Amino acid sequence: MYICKLLTSDFFQLTGTLTLAVFSAVLGSLQYGYSLGVINAPQKVIEQHYGRSLGVLPEEPLLLSENGTGTEKQEVHPSVVMYWSLSVSIFSIGGVVSSFLVGFVGDLRGRVKGMLMVNVLAVIAGLLMVLAKMWKPHVMVIAGRCVMGFYCGEVSSYVYREIAPMAYRGSLGTLHQLAIVTGILLSQVLGLEFLLGNDYYWPLLLGLSGAPAILQSLLLPLCPESPRYLYIKRGMVEEAKNSLRRLKGEYDPSADLEEMRREKEEVEKEAQVSIAVLVRSSLYRQQLFVALMMHLSQQLSGINAIFYYSTAIFEKAGVTQPVYATIGVGVLNTVFTMVSVALVDRAGRRTLTLIGLGGMCICAVAMTVGLVYLRVYSWMSYVSMSAIFLFVCFFEIGPGPIPWFIVAELFSQGPRPAAIALAGCTNWTSNFIIGMTFPYIEALCGSYVFILFAVLLFGFTVFTYLRVPETKGKTFEEIAAVKTGTETGTGTGTGTSTELEQLKSDSQA
Ligand code: GLC
Repeated sequence: MYICKLLTSDFFQLTGTLTLAVFSAVLGSLQYGYSLGVINAPQKVIEQHYGRSLGVLPEEPLLLSENGTGTEKQEVHPSVVMYWSLSVSIFSIGGVVSSFLVGFVGDLRGRVKGMLMVNVLAVIAGLLMVLAKMWKPHVMVIAGRCVMGFYCGEVSSYVYREIAPMAYRGSLGTLHQLAIVTGILLSQVLGLEFLLGNDYYWPLLLGLSGAPAILQSLLLPLCPESPRYLYIKRGMVEEAKNSLRRLKGEYDPSADLEEMRREKEEVEKEAQVSIAVLVRSSLYRQQLFVALMMHLSQQLSGINAIFYYSTAIFEKAGVTQPVYATIGVGVLNTVFTMVSVALVDRAGRRTLTLIGLGGMCICAVAMTVGLVYLRVYSWMSYVSMSAIFLFVCFFEIGPGPIPWFIVAELFSQGPRPAAIALAGCTNWTSNFIIGMTFPYIEALCGSYVFILFAVLLFGFTVFTYLRVPETKGKTFEEIAAVKTGTETGTGTGTGTSTELEQLKSDSQA
């Protein structure tokens, strides 16, 4: 309902071209979500192929429809565990590398051409995975996912680039997350054993992650270039006007042009701050700290332990149909992201992040109780299952979508690209750490594995309460003007004009 209202508001006069442009743009986010979720359901099938190609396959092949109760644990060879964890997490390494490029192709050639160019990477990645059985599957999958991660890092940086009018910043930022979760759900459904998550079709299942890029490449030539890119980056006013008219129909574009003119002025006024300067400057320290902590809390909450490994986790928790429970997670994930789209510009970012992180912390404790007492009370499997479901719901209320756009809200034009690069790098690196180490931590901590996340979540909740400012409906100046500790829960720093001058000369040096 809220989305409909948003799309029919003054800002959005919904035309066919605009629908097409939005749809083409979110295909990138959808692809990102698909790649995140796709390796969850077919884990066991693919591990068998890895085992065979590594020459370490257990004598008895693993039973795929086995109803694990936690007591009949199948040992997987350590090298298979290692290659599997790497296949899961290498995706994030690709993302770490490309987060430093922050959409540079888009700045160079325009958004449309830029996206068309990087789509080649997605197609290469898809092909590597579709052809995985033709050579060593572990090498092909790892290579394919690494390239795909690189592509997704580039794509997600585009999302930050076009900043919407203040009133809709949150809702539009959350649409990126909505496309991600739809991609995750799609991959979970296609990963069902009777569809593509089986011995025969798994390469196609993985390779399909390149398909949205093909569709996007067909649609993009029909879309106009971004008016903000034309006006702000290239100073092409007439072209920007035409582009606006193509997107919004016949209307008077002066208000939109005026808004872009002000942004262009701001860009020109403020020197670009490099990553090195941003890290060293005390002027932005507080904002940077908040931004990085929010990305850390998103990933170290353990959410991707669920999205990468939930089928295995559900199985250990005694759930009889783990794959369907995983799909249940995907459905709730999507529904609650929609709730967030509706709430984020009303309830505010800080409140939603607090509720989300606090709720996740309680759920992580409940999950642990469920896993620990499973051997004593079989009904504990329902406790763990419900806790996992709620964990995901709380995540999507705030900690999932908000970090993606709050960085752009915390920083003005000058330091924004550098801040986005650092935040992206933090996000992808911590994503990698969870993807790579979760199977090992789980082996070490057993049923207590989620206690670790509960402790981290508690810390992040306290941090949010003490340091994260409310950015809803505020300008950068207002956000930056909030002094540390003088208001409850606010914490961005403020800089003196001498500091600002110093920074400018640092950047120009
Ligand atoms: C966010 C996270 C991503 C996670 C997803 C789950 O987009 O960045 O890592 O998998 O939410 O919905």
